Amino acid sequence: MRLSQSFPRSLALSCLAIVILAGAALAEKFEPRVGQPGKDVVWVPSPQALVDRMLDMAKLAPGEYHMDLGSGDGRTVITAAKRGAIAVGVEYNPNMVALARENAKQAGVGDRATFIEGDLFKADISKANVITLFLLPDINLRLRPKLLDLRPGTRIVSNSFDMGDWTPDQTIQAGGECTSWCRAHLWIVPAKVGGTWKLPDGGELTLEQKYQTITGSLRMGSSNMNISNGKVIADQVTFTAGTMQYTGRVSGNTIEGIAQTSTSWRATR
Ligand SMILES: C[S@@+](CC[C@H](N)C(=O)[O-])C[C@H]1O[C@@H](n2cnc3c(N)ncnc32)[C@H](O)[C@@H]1O
Repeated sequence: MRLSQSFPRSLALSCLAIVILAGAALAEKFEPRVGQPGKDVVWVPSPQALVDRMLDMAKLAPGEYHMDLGSGDGRTVITAAKRGAIAVGVEYNPNMVALARENAKQAGVGDRATFIEGDLFKADISKANVITLFLLPDINLRLRPKLLDLRPGTRIVSNSFDMGDWTPDQTIQAGGECTSWCRAHLWIVPAKVGGTWKLPDGGELTLEQKYQTITGSLRMGSSNMNISNGKVIADQVTFTAGTMQYTGRVSGNTIEGIAQTSTSWRATR
């Protein structure tokens, strides 16, 4: 009786042990394959030399919040965490997530590099200071409206692929050991400045905005001047009207700055 009771229990325990060991062996065996299918994009790793340059061009600072959308084996997130960032990867493939977590642990940044298993289109990206991408042109375009709504000054860096007619603020080519997928583009989310702004003396600044480029006119007294060389980089606005160059900082519904002659100017909307 005793034997018949203990035997099934020990058999069950042995089976459980086999299942656990087999599971562990399978988990260990996962080897990512370049070109393996992903939900929307296959996996191809960014060369480490480019990852370093991408984070350099984003000027990622310690304590900033970095996200890699489609984080693969976690290399960009791990590099960002090593630089002192709070780094988060979003990856659809659970095996890649497990691999990235293990890689982060091995690299000693398991506590600062986090990986979310899920769809990058559903991720909350609102806290990001820097977002890195290695996706595809049409995926970048689908993400673009969400990226443009991020806080002004958020930096987006994409390995190889562009953002359609939102031209990059900077493009670099990694040299050295980098042999393929060696180009990256940077965009800095511009403040939204389009519209009509009032000047204290009754003048009016009218701005039309296309991404980081602004056109429009400045009316002061009886003169109405077209503006040229208009740019918005993060919250900094610059343009020329007549012979005067204006620079200013946008904060909500106010722009404050200086004109070329060092006189201060102000506009509200
Ligand atoms: C070209 S790889 C880039 C990997 C990594 N960012 C790098 O630069 O090394 C694209 C990654 O996105 C993942 N992916 C594809 N579609 C996705 C989606 N909708 N949500 C989350 N991850 C996705 C793939 O599994 C793959 O790991």
